[in-house]
Amino acid sequence: MAQQAKKPIGIMETVLRDAHQSLIATRMPTEMMLPIVDKMDKVGYHAVECWGGATFDASLRFLKEDPWERLRKLRNGFKNTKLQMLFRGQNILGYRPYADDVVDYFVEKSVANGIDIIRIFDCLNDLRNLQEAVKATNNIKKREGRGHAQIALSYTLGDAYTLDYWVDMAKKIEEMGADSICIKDMAGLLVPYKATEMITAMKKATKLPIQLHTHYTSGVASMTYLKAVEAGVDVIDCAISPFALGTSQPATEVMVETFKGTPYDTGYDQNLLAEIADYFRPYRDECLANGLLNPKVMGVDIKTLLYQVPGGMLSNMVSQLKEQNAEDKYYDVLKEIPEVRKDLGEPPLVTPSSQIVGTQAVFNVLMGERYKMATKETKAVLRGEYGQTVKPMNQKIIDKVIPGEKRITCRPADLIENELSKLEAEMKEWKQQDEDVLSYALFPQVATDFFKYRQAQQQKVDMTQADTKNGAYPV
Ligand code: CO
Repeated sequence: MAQQAKKPIGIMETVLRDAHQSLIATRMPTEMMLPIVDKMDKVGYHAVECWGGATFDASLRFLKEDPWERLRKLRNGFKNTKLQMLFRGQNILGYRPYADDVVDYFVEKSVANGIDIIRIFDCLNDLRNLQEAVKATNNIKKREGRGHAQIALSYTLGDAYTLDYWVDMAKKIEEMGADSICIKDMAGLLVPYKATEMITAMKKATKLPIQLHTHYTSGVASMTYLKAVEAGVDVIDCAISPFALGTSQPATEVMVETFKGTPYDTGYDQNLLAEIADYFRPYRDECLANGLLNPKVMGVDIKTLLYQVPGGMLSNMVSQLKEQNAEDKYYDVLKEIPEVRKDLGEPPLVTPSSQIVGTQAVFNVLMGERYKMATKETKAVLRGEYGQTVKPMNQKIIDKVIPGEKRITCRPADLIENELSKLEAEMKEWKQQDEDVLSYALFPQVATDFFKYRQAQQQKVDMTQADTKNGAYPV
């Protein structure tokens, strides 16, 4: 190894997005993030992931924060570090496919507000669903020299997902004009020696940098990173230790130490990382104390290898069952998930397919009869509205759930007419910034509630300002 040429690996830090999404249901508020940004900016991370995924939804719905404002504040703080977001292809950050004009505008505004790297994935790995977002990012890059389109493949297991499948996908991604590839392993299913095989083969097939994203759920993640790095992977996704492990990522400090003194040395300062960990540790304790962090998601759950359930989905499912007083059905639902997945063409389980499969599995178990009730989204998947699955769907279930209905085979967005101006018209009374229409497009009800809340807050402020006339000066 001593003679080997230096090839420092990069780390993308996930504490501001995936780590808290996976461990505490995306509830970390912006005010928790801002005080540590200066230190994080000095580490030299390949990138910091801080936006997209569920952060947008959770900000509006639970934290009553404007997600765009969060992004601008983080951009303002991170002077040297690239900011990355997770983008669900044609579903953007929502749960349904959108028209191309909404996708274009969202990409445009994400970069304008501070995003450098957009990781774009599709829950079915239907590359047609990524085309528009990649094109939009590349247009900005041509125009402004900023913006990086990374295509992520949702990693999963199953008969259709052979080494040839992944290599073929890597070639197609390069042809599509992406800047890099990510293997996105939501549930920690990629085991170490498979990683060697996969990264070696993909590296031969493409010149694009390859980034590996996994979760610690099944307990193998840091070994998988070790083998992947040895096989030539360029960037790995890690979380600072207080928000690492369990359903989150391997710990940043552990990976930094592992590669110290090797050709893969990151060169990051462990003392600085320790200070960042010190900052987040009391917050972790607080989350444990108030129940936001459930110890159930912290251990090694080897069953994830059997049921292939990603971290975020596990914590969602626990709370869904809790609400129905049916926590005792946990393992029944876990068993039903792979069955529903097969019925729907064996898609990877990642938002939104993970929610669709998970919710349908909960229904199937709680109703006592499979597909007695099918969600709107299950029906849409069966109709082909989310795209093409790698394997065919179960004809019996199609006949039971959408009898006689027409199914589609084209790129689903080709059937969706531009909708931006219609959305603008619907929400214009609430509009305070251009970006508001995008919040509304993704979550019409939640965004409207947020706009009402925002207005009420502003009116309260106006009232206190009015008081200043009477000599009362609000602090
Ligand atoms: Co993830």
